[in-house]
Amino acid sequence: MIENTSSSGKKLFLESYGCQMNFSDSEIVASILTSKGYSTTKNFEEADVIFVNTCAIRENAESRVRQRLQDFKKVKQKKPDTVIGVLGCMAERLKSQFLEQEKLLDIVVGPDAYRDLPQLLEQAESGQKAVNVILSREETYADISPVRIDSNGVSAFISITRGCDNMCSFCVVPFTRGRERSRNPESIVAEACDLFEKGYREVTLLGQNVDSYLWAGGGLKKEILTEQQKAASVNFSGLLEMIALIHPDLRVRFSTSHPKDMTNEVLEVMAKYDNICKYIHLPVQSGNSRILELMNRGYNREWYSDRIAAIKRIMPDCGISTDIISGFCSETEEEHQDTLRLMEQVQYDFAYMFMYSERPKTLAERKYKDDIAEEVKKRRLQEIVQLQQQHSALKTKAAVGKVHRVLIEGVSKKSEAQLCGRNSQNTMVVFDKGQYKKGEYVNVLAESCTATTLIGRVI
Ligand code: 5AD
Ligand code: SF4
Repeated sequence: MIENTSSSGKKLFLESYGCQMNFSDSEIVASILTSKGYSTTKNFEEADVIFVNTCAIRENAESRVRQRLQDFKKVKQKKPDTVIGVLGCMAERLKSQFLEQEKLLDIVVGPDAYRDLPQLLEQAESGQKAVNVILSREETYADISPVRIDSNGVSAFISITRGCDNMCSFCVVPFTRGRERSRNPESIVAEACDLFEKGYREVTLLGQNVDSYLWAGGGLKKEILTEQQKAASVNFSGLLEMIALIHPDLRVRFSTSHPKDMTNEVLEVMAKYDNICKYIHLPVQSGNSRILELMNRGYNREWYSDRIAAIKRIMPDCGISTDIISGFCSETEEEHQDTLRLMEQVQYDFAYMFMYSERPKTLAERKYKDDIAEEVKKRRLQEIVQLQQQHSALKTKAAVGKVHRVLIEGVSKKSEAQLCGRNSQNTMVVFDKGQYKKGEYVNVLAESCTATTLIGRVI
């Protein structure tokens, strides 16, 4: 750790909301600040600096952050020197407006400006408000070695791309996280090797759209022009293979895949390596082609069904999960039924399900009316959730009686006498402790289950 006398000894409280990418970014932030002498604390009342890494994807994500800020307000009243900052997507969306709306804030920083944090902190400590919401075309934090926060010491996230070029009409991410950039594969492999040496046994490669990963020397993807550059480039299947080859005992997962970009080449690499987990998160959003068009998703129902068929053909045992939005602009009952019918067809193992929430500046906000009544959105969501619960339960039951290779993550939440870990398909498996330890692989015969967890014994 590099000591810096001006700030050493100070305590940082860092709280994260939203997607895995945000949690991964917080590890970058922790790394930048610990190298300046900060230590982290889990108790915000004793912190000198309180940072909230925020999410802007739906309105309720933002309201949760605003509510949380009220708790920090009390700390600031008692200890006026406490520096309070907001990071991430909500900071990027609201920019300096955020300082006017929430008077307790000292710092507002967007997702591409974390290298500037030490300087922004100095500015805040001298009593000035500090803002940096500049988005970058190059920043990937490739050289920063993340400080693993709340880690189980077994699985870790590695960011491989930042930003998103897709412009789905409902989504605020292209505005808050900027243009898509891929990170140098060598730095990704080096990070994975380092984690393996430290005892980690699973890495999850993160990006808004991992399938669109493309490295040809840095910068924006659309600037990769020459044939020579293209020939020398590394795409997602290439990267996946590089990581899979590090060690057979290092598992690889990734998220999120995009239906319009997911190639058979990727599926074939997955099938080829036992240590690439057989699990794909493939957000569908809607099962109706007209709605998908309005959402600007770049595929229709048939294309999506074909991708699902390819997964099932190439990896019959692959777990599949999805994201679904209910009540998007102008969605009819019949179109909602299409979503339910698609769910029946695919039988997802798991799903994240949301009511449509209109976001400022997005294409949908500018072009379409948010015209589905709240109660209708809610009822449709309930129907989706209920159907998914049935499917999840069926899927878990179908895994009983089979043997699963499980990477042990630690002690089970419910009992000290049991351990838990996930199988390749990402289902949690619980079993008696015996002599086994965290970070080891065991073969577990699943003997029973709850709705989402398998219970078994090591064989
Ligand atoms: N309203 C509801 N859900 C949304 N998502 C993204 N934007 C919105 C929105 N405006 C969902 C999508 C996406 C997931 C991360 O969040 O399903 O895949
Ligand atoms: Fe948002 Fe679509 Fe990009 Fe996902 S792919 S982050 S939903 S714009």
